Amino acid sequence: MAPPPAAAEQIETTTTTAIHEEDDGQVVNPWEVSAKDGGKIDYDKLIDRFGCQRLDHALIQRVEHLTSCPAHVFLRRGVFFAHRDFAEILDAYERGDNFYLYTGRGPSSEALHLGHLIPFMFTKYLQDVFKVPLVIQLTDDEKFLWKNLTVEECQRLARENAKDIIACGFDISKTFIFADFNYVGGAFYKNMVEVAKRVTYNQAVGIFGFTGEDHIGKVSFPPVQAVPSFPSSFPHLFSGKENLRCLIPCAIDQDPYFRMTRDVAPKLGYHKPALIESLFFPALQGETGKMSASDPNSAIYVTDSAKDIKNKVNKHAFSGGQDSIEKHRQLGANLEVDIPVKYLSFFLEDDAELEHIKKEYGAGRMLTGEVKQRLIQVLTELVERHRRARAAVTDEVLGPTALLWAVGHFTRCSPSGAVLHASTLPRVLLVE
Ligand code: TYM
Repeated sequence: MAPPPAAAEQIETTTTTAIHEEDDGQVVNPWEVSAKDGGKIDYDKLIDRFGCQRLDHALIQRVEHLTSCPAHVFLRRGVFFAHRDFAEILDAYERGDNFYLYTGRGPSSEALHLGHLIPFMFTKYLQDVFKVPLVIQLTDDEKFLWKNLTVEECQRLARENAKDIIACGFDISKTFIFADFNYVGGAFYKNMVEVAKRVTYNQAVGIFGFTGEDHIGKVSFPPVQAVPSFPSSFPHLFSGKENLRCLIPCAIDQDPYFRMTRDVAPKLGYHKPALIESLFFPALQGETGKMSASDPNSAIYVTDSAKDIKNKVNKHAFSGGQDSIEKHRQLGANLEVDIPVKYLSFFLEDDAELEHIKKEYGAGRMLTGEVKQRLIQVLTELVERHRRARAAVTDEVLGPTALLWAVGHFTRCSPSGAVLHASTLPRVLLVE
């Protein structure tokens, strides 16, 4: 095993801090996101409490310099706003060392909403500009443990969600997608128990807020999400590359899993995984946290029709405009709370147009209806493009049996559904 990296002994500052004890009144963890008194999430406080770093302009410039590509809109506009050790990834890349990307999805609904798309769109950009391998974990087991769903239903949802993920357009020769129920075993499982043995129950309670009422399935899950951060969990991909660094793009709600992982990594002789973290794409009703799967009107889904999008935006998108035209012309819109402007700042690529809308709307010369109209256009195009790409990902493309899939080379389960032994899987990636 590789020798511990230099920063090995540095302990993650807040790992043992009880994140469920919300001294600042907001709750942000993988299962719940809520702001204080129904207000906005305070991301500065979150950075302090979690102990991550703000992604500053100098780092963004470095990305542009190293890749010779313009920074992604999500970087330019601060959507990805926090990180852990991203500078180390860039240092290593500059020295000519490769790294790999790891991200994931917990399949709990039929389709992804726009918030879920954000890390995947960003991961695609990172893969394109750095030309690196990517592993994507579908935690069908996590959703079985947390939701009222059967194992079979979680597996089915994983398959459906995989189609949406593949439709994001990853490089088929460099991407490996797997679902836990099919893939966990062998080297992956060995790493899981190595991690599990090094995290005490009290630490898990501190990090995740488990209580005595939680079943032990929940307590046992975090190592499953931790170990894709270690290259040795994928011997068919990274054999001989156990020292490869890992970068994880995700929203900041997933940070607790990786604080735990980063604490344990040096004890196993691995690099701590680096993270690049986004804020939350807000609900249509306002910026109070994540969107809710139980309220379809709180989010736009990638399966929504043009008519759905129009209705949802017109009826439900919270407006910062004034309640009469006269007042609006006089006072202008409150851009701080306006959801159409917020959504445009994620998905309208043209910086000049966005600035123009903000200026005119903020000054009352543009009305809410006009801004919503532009948003409907932008989202309809995005969802339409996604729908076309997804239509190409048929069940045939995914394969006839359970899901264990390496894009391009179709690493699959055997027809009986049994997982093929790792040594029999083709080496689909060449990691230099
Ligand atoms: P899940 O399925 O809740 O979310 C999938 C990804 O989407 C991010 N996300 C959002 N991003 C922006 N705005 C939102 N409103 C929003 N809602 C969700 C999540 O942070 C996540 O990146 N346990 C994970 C699955 C997982 C994973 C990973 C995620 C397994 N390994 C590694 C990230 C990295 C989950 O249930 O994600």
